[in-house]
Amino acid sequence: MTEEDMGRERWSSTVGFILASIGSAVGIGNVWRFPYIVGTNGGGAFLIPYLVSVFLFGLPLMMLEFAIGRSTGTSVVAAFRSIQGRFSVAGLAVVAVAGLVLSYYLVITSWVLAYALFFALNRPMEFGAFTGSYFPLIFYLISGTAVFLTVRSGVREGIERVSRILIPVLVVILLFLVVFALTRSGAAAGIAFYLSPDYSRLADPTVWTAAFGQTFFSLSVGMGVMLTYGSYLERGDLFQNASVIAVTDMLIAILAGLVIFPLVFTAGLDPAAGVNLTFITLPAAFLEMRSGMLFGALFFTMLFAAALTSAVSMLEVPVAAMMDSCGYSRKRATLLASGIIMLFGLPSALSYTALELELFGTPLLDLSDYLFGTIGLIVAGLIISIVGGWYMDRSRICAEIGGCRWQQRVYVALIRYCVPTVLLITLLASLLRIGG
Ligand code: PFF
Repeated sequence: MTEEDMGRERWSSTVGFILASIGSAVGIGNVWRFPYIVGTNGGGAFLIPYLVSVFLFGLPLMMLEFAIGRSTGTSVVAAFRSIQGRFSVAGLAVVAVAGLVLSYYLVITSWVLAYALFFALNRPMEFGAFTGSYFPLIFYLISGTAVFLTVRSGVREGIERVSRILIPVLVVILLFLVVFALTRSGAAAGIAFYLSPDYSRLADPTVWTAAFGQTFFSLSVGMGVMLTYGSYLERGDLFQNASVIAVTDMLIAILAGLVIFPLVFTAGLDPAAGVNLTFITLPAAFLEMRSGMLFGALFFTMLFAAALTSAVSMLEVPVAAMMDSCGYSRKRATLLASGIIMLFGLPSALSYTALELELFGTPLLDLSDYLFGTIGLIVAGLIISIVGGWYMDRSRICAEIGGCRWQQRVYVALIRYCVPTVLLITLLASLLRIGG
């Protein structure tokens, strides 16, 4: 008998659940987004708004998602329907955002895989030459297949098993790279750029909205991932689990910066952002150093482990929704969801190639990051915080997060009032294209 035949799938243990959630949270956002945001938003001083944001807004939303998932025992659409019939549509919107974010996230995941392989084979490729070739398409298909196969194997045999292997690998590589990077000649200059605190920046509201946006993206909250993962959880203290996940996510992001900036400054390069930093500047830095191929391969392997486990979590949202709401088997739901998502991602995958697919002068990949990964994520987060915070029984939330004492009351108040307010502010700031 398969797991599916025996009723709802479950994590094998709390550790398995925590590792899978860390796998979702730790992703490309920790490595290519967080360090640069820190470096340009007040350095070490940025950690203050970031900590505030993680503990006051990110953590409560994560706990709410876990609580909805565990108490309803089902995924986004069915969970929303069980809270109130008319919220099914809102649930569908959240599922759509998860799929859309995955459609472009997969493109970057595939670049990372390609670079890992190029470095491992001692054949690094210049970014322009890479995107001008057929490689992006080939690696897009390979990465999509890897994500598909993982999710198709199920919660325990697929998602949990992959996370149990990849997260420790990621941490070991990261620690090794930190030690290596900190012993380079440019380490001091790199760390100065990264962490020198400029407290005056804290008066700037855009620094705060940048912290909010980064928190939600990095913790994978607001897209129903944690809700779905919570639905496979039987027991355990949600506050404790969510705290472990959030703190690990933050530590890994901070450590990533301790690798990147010392290397970039040692090579005398300019610390750029996003695509440029990861696929142009860092590879150039690796090429400059002895054993650069090895370090490049390690770095991109680490990043691929991070990206794959995040992509898997996003695919699980529509897959679980189809299984729970349409009665599809896991195999059928995975095939359908991945097929649709990969078709949607194709334009993004081609946007940096010779075809140069653009809209309003912006490559489709960047546009997707803005529309889905920034605006969509915030709107979906708003939906979850309102449906869960205002329409789910307060006693039900309390029961999930350990009773109705003052601590839980504070969390419920944060979920009801502060999280939606902060999401709205971040939405406005993002619409004006500042911060977040
Ligand atoms: N947290 C992932 C990262 O930092 O790269 C991205 C992500 C995954 C966002 C899953 C949202 C999500 F639901």
